[in-house]
Amino acid sequence: MSEIAKTNAPKQLVFDTDMVERAYDRWAPFYDLVFGSVFAKGRRAAIRAADKIGGRVLEVGVGTGISLPLYGSNCRLFGVDISAAMLRKAQDKVAELRLKNVEGLAVMDAEKLNFPERSFDVVVAQYVVTAVSDPEATLDEFARVLKPGGEIILLSRVSADSGLRQLIEHLLAPIARPLGWRTEFAWSRYAEWVKRPLNMELVERSPVPPFGHFSLIRFRKIKTAN
Ligand SMILES: C[S@@+](CC[C@H](N)C(=O)[O-])C[C@H]1O[C@@H](n2cnc3c(N)ncnc32)[C@H](O)[C@@H]1O
Repeated sequence: MSEIAKTNAPKQLVFDTDMVERAYDRWAPFYDLVFGSVFAKGRRAAIRAADKIGGRVLEVGVGTGISLPLYGSNCRLFGVDISAAMLRKAQDKVAELRLKNVEGLAVMDAEKLNFPERSFDVVVAQYVVTAVSDPEATLDEFARVLKPGGEIILLSRVSADSGLRQLIEHLLAPIARPLGWRTEFAWSRYAEWVKRPLNMELVERSPVPPFGHFSLIRFRKIKTAN
C-alpha cells in the first residue's frame, strides 16, 4: 500500500486498521488515566444527547467502556471496538459495576458492522471517526444500522480547513498516526458526507473542551414515507 493517499492537498496519510488496533492494544492499560478526565465534559454531553433518545444504543469504538456507566437506564447498550485489549477493560467495568443495561460487547470493525440495517435508535462514536482508516465508509455504516428518526452522535476532532493550524496539523500527522490518531480531519469532510443519499441531516455541531478543537456532532436519519 502506498504511504500517501491520492487526495486533495495537503495529502492525507493512509490509516491502516491493523496499525490502529495495535496502537490501542498498547494504550489499553493506561488509557483511562491519560484520557479519562481530559475528554470527560465531551463524553457527558454526548451521553446526555443519547439519553434523550434512549432505546437501543450502539457505541462504536467503546474502548475501555469509560462511558458505559454514564448512560441512563433507558438505554440498552451494545459496545464494539477493534481492540480486544480495550474491550477486556470494558468487560471488567461491566462486571465490576454490574451494568445491567449493557447487552453485549464485541470485537468489530466500525467499517463492517455485523448488524442488520435499522437496528439501533442511536449510534454513538466518541473520538473514533478520526481513528478509522475510512471515515466516510464508517459513517455510511453508522447510517445503515440506524433506524429512521435515530441519531448518530459523534465527538470528533475537527481540524482546520486552512491557515497556520492546518499546516501544524499536517506536520504533526506522521507523529500522531502510530499512536492511533489522525490530526487532519476538516469539517468539509462531514459537510460533504451528509450530502450522500442516505437521508441524513445535521442537527448539531457544538464545540466541546478541550482546546476548542473538538465538536459534538449530531446527524439525524430522516423518516421517509416508505
Ligand atoms: C480515542 S479512542 C476513544 C475511546 C472511547 N470512545 C473514549 O471516549 O475514550 C478510539 C477507539 O476507537 C477504536 N477504533 C479505532 N479504529 C476502529 C475501528 N476500525 N473499528 C472499531 N473501533 C475502532 C480504538 O480501538 C479505540 O478504542
